[in-house]
Amino acid sequence: MKAAVTTRAGDPDVIKIQEVPMPVVHPGWVLIQIKAFGLNRSELFTRRGDSPGVQFPRIQGIECVGIIEKDPSGTFEKGQQVAAIMGEMGRSFDGGYAEFTTVPLKIVFPFKSKLSWETIGAIPEMFQTTSGSLNEALEIREGESLLIRGGTSSIGMLSCQLAKAKGLKVISTTRNPEKRQALLENGTDHVVIDDGQIAEKVKEIYPSGVNKVLELVGTTTLRDSLRSIAHKGVVCMTGILGNSWTIKDFSPMYDIPSMGKLTIYAGDAANLSKELLQEFIDEVEKGNINLNIDRVFSLDEVAIAHQYMEDNRAKGKLVVKI
Ligand SMILES: NC(=O)c1ccc[n+]([C@@H]2O[C@H](COP(=O)([O-])OP(=O)(O)OC[C@H]3O[C@@H](n4cnc5c(N)ncnc54)[C@H](OP(=O)(O)O)[C@@H]3O)[C@@H](O)[C@H]2O)c1
Repeated sequence: MKAAVTTRAGDPDVIKIQEVPMPVVHPGWVLIQIKAFGLNRSELFTRRGDSPGVQFPRIQGIECVGIIEKDPSGTFEKGQQVAAIMGEMGRSFDGGYAEFTTVPLKIVFPFKSKLSWETIGAIPEMFQTTSGSLNEALEIREGESLLIRGGTSSIGMLSCQLAKAKGLKVISTTRNPEKRQALLENGTDHVVIDDGQIAEKVKEIYPSGVNKVLELVGTTTLRDSLRSIAHKGVVCMTGILGNSWTIKDFSPMYDIPSMGKLTIYAGDAANLSKELLQEFIDEVEKGNINLNIDRVFSLDEVAIAHQYMEDNRAKGKLVVKI
């Protein structure tokens, strides 16, 4: 089969298209014929060598959608539509950047849809992360205000739509003024240009601060996000777009406002259910959600897609169609 293999840690050109043996299915695992997969920022970090424990060569890809080719357990029928996400896929075992993959049953979610494969490919990881961050970690409620830091990311764009559908007021950030219009068209109420210090700009819009912050830029802006919250507000760090993993001299008593809350969301397949996934796919099918797919690549173009992501040219999700 054909696969995009990350041959060693490095720049996008370390990803090479190769003919590799078909994966062998073990008990408790299934063989999936991959139809499409979304690209994820974490795969860029892994490719650079920033994921301790990931050894190369590796077929990356923490998610995929496709059809069951073989399931020794008989849980799924041949040809059934499925998605697979996380659970060390594309990290400790080979993942989605290929024509076929084997994954454990526990990370496989069946669904039914007539949507195109490239559309469905955009969904699993983006939806799981967005839904988990907003509903489970931030526990968003109608009437609240939400700041999305890293608003033009695929997670940021979808979060805005889900929050608006639930009746929140949303501020989205970007560092690039040229992306302002795209954020407004995606439904945000306010755009703030992020120069790293935006707490005052947020308080010009909401003088008492915002109720909730979805922090996708990460540690580089976290202190400032904590300064943006209202009394008993919550910040959830879900992303690390700023590419920095720790905060020097973080002082909880000083950096977290009194009674403010700081949490994180580190999603996994266990945070998704087949019912939630199907419900969301149905909403997309009805036209109630715009997935903001920025560009669809072929398997041969995975290295180009990684460069595109690295250059921050996307305003939404990048998908590869097999
Ligand atoms: N916790 C979890 O379970 C989980 C799961 C999935 C993803 N994530 C994380 O969620 C974040 C968003 O993922 P994604 O795939 O949606 O990202 P993405 O679409 O690739 O995000 C692209 C955007 O990130 C912004 N950006 C890039 N570098 C930045 C920097 N140094 N500082 C500030 N902004 C920067 C750029 O926005 P502008 O140019 O407009 O500023 C760019 O348009 C990532 O950090 C990802 O690792 C977490």
